[in-house]
Amino acid sequence: MIEARNASFSRVTITELMIPSYANFGGKIHGGILLSLMDKVAYATASKHSGAYCVTVSVDTVDFLQPVEVGELVSLKASVNYVGNSSMIIGIKVISENVKTGEVKHTNTCYFTMVAKGDDDKPTTVPKLILENKTDVRRFVEAIYRKGFKKEYESNLYEIKKSWDKQEIKSLLANERCIIEF
Ligand SMILES: CC(C)(COP(=O)(O)OP(=O)(O)OC[C@H]1O[C@@H](n2cnc3c(N)ncnc32)[C@H](O)[C@@H]1OP(=O)(O)O)[C@@H](O)C(=O)NCCC(=O)NCCS
Repeated sequence: MIEARNASFSRVTITELMIPSYANFGGKIHGGILLSLMDKVAYATASKHSGAYCVTVSVDTVDFLQPVEVGELVSLKASVNYVGNSSMIIGIKVISENVKTGEVKHTNTCYFTMVAKGDDDKPTTVPKLILENKTDVRRFVEAIYRKGFKKEYESNLYEIKKSWDKQEIKSLLANERCIIEF
């Protein structure tokens, strides 16, 4: 196995024309079309870095900030931000361009965790990431923080769920738009 690779080795950009069959009833592009493109670009980047077959394990912070229109060119720029042992976090920036007006929208940035698998279908070690500049370092460090926040969130939720009582839930839901019927 290669000992280490830099992020530029595996950086991938996919550009796709948004055709009418990608649209929803409102005439805007389906979120699922964009998710599928994100998954593809994440796979391409992760498999290039690892030189292995990869699977998607987790998707973080997919917020669709602006609608994408039919006829626009959507570009997804992906690079490896972090590597663990078998996992890689791929950062993806999605932009949408109206070629007639030249308007460019940043529709979202998200993070896919991909895991490399060996021929035995088990997670396999991936090359280390060579951090060549300040951006590479910032992305790697941010990924470590994001992983930590996710762990903290999961353990907080677990603790909260353990100690829920009926009275607490009632007051929590008092101003919410729901009706308790049991
Ligand atoms: C992801 C998967 C390979 C983990 O397998 P496992 O035997 O539990 O292996 P491990 O616990 O050693 O985890 C492997 C790596 O995944 C990471 N991982 C596991 N679950 C994770 C999660 N929910 N979020 C982020 N990373 C996760 C681990 O941290 C570990 O990373 P590291 O090797 O860099 O330390 C396995 O659950 C799987 O194959 N899932 C299905 C993936 C798939 O089919 N995706 C397509 C969508 S349908």
